[in-house]
Amino acid sequence: LRTLRPIHEMRAALQPHQKEGATIGFVPTMGALHEGHASLIRLARMKCDVIVVSIFVNPTQFGPNEDYDAYPRTLDEDSRKLIDENVDFLFMPDAKEIYPSGASTSISMANFATEFEGAIRPHHFDGVATVVAALFNIVSPTIAFFGQKDAQQVAVVKRMTRDLHFPLEIMVGPTIREADGLALSSRNRFLNGTERQEAVGLSKALFLMEKQALAGVGLEVARSAALELLTHCAPSAVLDYLEAVDSETFRKIGSFEAVETCTIVIAARFGKIRLLDNIVIRPGK
Ligand code: PAF
Repeated sequence: LRTLRPIHEMRAALQPHQKEGATIGFVPTMGALHEGHASLIRLARMKCDVIVVSIFVNPTQFGPNEDYDAYPRTLDEDSRKLIDENVDFLFMPDAKEIYPSGASTSISMANFATEFEGAIRPHHFDGVATVVAALFNIVSPTIAFFGQKDAQQVAVVKRMTRDLHFPLEIMVGPTIREADGLALSSRNRFLNGTERQEAVGLSKALFLMEKQALAGVGLEVARSAALELLTHCAPSAVLDYLEAVDSETFRKIGSFEAVETCTIVIAARFGKIRLLDNIVIRPGK
């Protein structure tokens, strides 16, 4: 594992591989690595010759009252995991270099700003799209890997990549779950015992909604059943949303019958911790 911080060093390190025609697999992260990241790295390893992982806690995707300062920073542990996963390069840029003094350019993901994470976290996706575009420009990957766990982020990154004509492929890795179904997240470590027990309600609600959709139950009835289950499993959770959406646009769908596939998204707060989860379902199949 070679750790590089300056942008010019990262570019110089990749140049010989690019000249040789090697494929570059890129896994952008904010660190606090878990099995979800490891599974993306393994997917990248299967598909590409050279693997670059970035760790950059991106200030522009956090709102003023969000957890930027408290976001877990576990570099030693992360480096050990990257060595175990046989990663070639760890890119850890400095915020001052990614956003040089006077930086004035931001990508607007306006169509994603009013629903779900976009509505709850103003400018979050502008920050994500801007930093991902900057990282793509530096690393020039052949394939970039993102986790399905952040489904709206996946939709945003795919849209931005298409709109700005980045010559690369976006590949999405499946959500990795604990044995009881809780989706892995860097924020799970902050849950206390009760919150952790209740958090499993998110995936239970999603799986129930999927089961009902596949059994031909209508969207609203399935949604009510899932909400009831969530209240039962997680009485202290504060729900932000539970909806079925078009996987690309993140617009709500009116009924299961109208679509071949859709994503069911859920977000709720457990104390101070906000957790997200989703599943892609195929009610039309
Ligand atoms: O999913 C994340 O960790 C971040 O949003 C990303 C894609 C690395 C951009 O900062």
